[in-house]
Amino acid sequence: MSASYFQKGILLAGGLGTRLDPTTRAVNKQLLPVYDKPLVYYPLSTLLLAGIRDVLLISAPGDVPSFERLLGDGSQLGISIRYAVQDRPRGLAEALLIGRDFVGPEHVALALGDNVFFGPAWHEVLARSCRREHGATVFAYRVAEPSHYGVVELDGGGRPVSIEEKPAGPKSDLAVTGLYFYDNRALEIAAGLQPSARGELEITDVNRGYLAEGMLHVEPLAGDVTWLDTGTHDALWQASNLVQAAQARLGGKVCCPEEIAYAQGLIDAAQLERLAANSPGEYGQYLQRLPKD
Ligand code: G1P
Repeated sequence: MSASYFQKGILLAGGLGTRLDPTTRAVNKQLLPVYDKPLVYYPLSTLLLAGIRDVLLISAPGDVPSFERLLGDGSQLGISIRYAVQDRPRGLAEALLIGRDFVGPEHVALALGDNVFFGPAWHEVLARSCRREHGATVFAYRVAEPSHYGVVELDGGGRPVSIEEKPAGPKSDLAVTGLYFYDNRALEIAAGLQPSARGELEITDVNRGYLAEGMLHVEPLAGDVTWLDTGTHDALWQASNLVQAAQARLGGKVCCPEEIAYAQGLIDAAQLERLAANSPGEYGQYLQRLPKD
């Protein structure tokens, strides 16, 4: 058995979703559907797959009740979910300040609520990252338009040499995805940040702090892990299409938190049955059909 240093995860489901207006005017972006389930199920699945058992979900004050209605206290999945508010979006790194007491002296995974990951190799990549005691791990994915993202440049040995937030002239085509595994040093780095030119506490600046200390690890994601972000109408539509296609091919679902919780032994067959019974429609029927020991 290999140890994981990660028990705690912050799921940041805030933001104004301005690029998705008017769709997000009355509904938090992370509650919108990606094919057959709410967007937030995808990063939650990632945290579950990584072995995270203690989640702090951060959202806008008016949206927290909706997430509570959807996810409750997490006990139905055999985990704990607590909630905190970000009263206005001051940057992703603020999640580490809001979550300071929640994290305490431990390591923490930070997942952006709008990032979708799936694929056969994903579980193993996550497990490897959770075994890293010191420093930070980020995941890099080759994209056509890197200037829309954080961009990391690697040397010939795969070590990071620079990381920049949405650069006009990107030094590579490797986007930094919205999932970060940090040792406790992240809390200090975040506490010392100054707002960027756009007035935000940038998560990229936390990663730069680790890079400056020689403690930033980059895991490039290859074809057997798919990463999608969902910031625009096109991206959201493509994400739904890709999930639909992947599931049709698999004959199963990707990023189904109930299925993962059962596979990980967090809930028993009787609880999975109860979750199935509580979910009318196709999703519940899928849970019903899952093979149980
Ligand atoms: C954020 C980060 C960026 C990262 C991206 C991944 O950008 O600032 O570094 O590449 O998430 O989704 P945002 O999408 O919030 O503009």
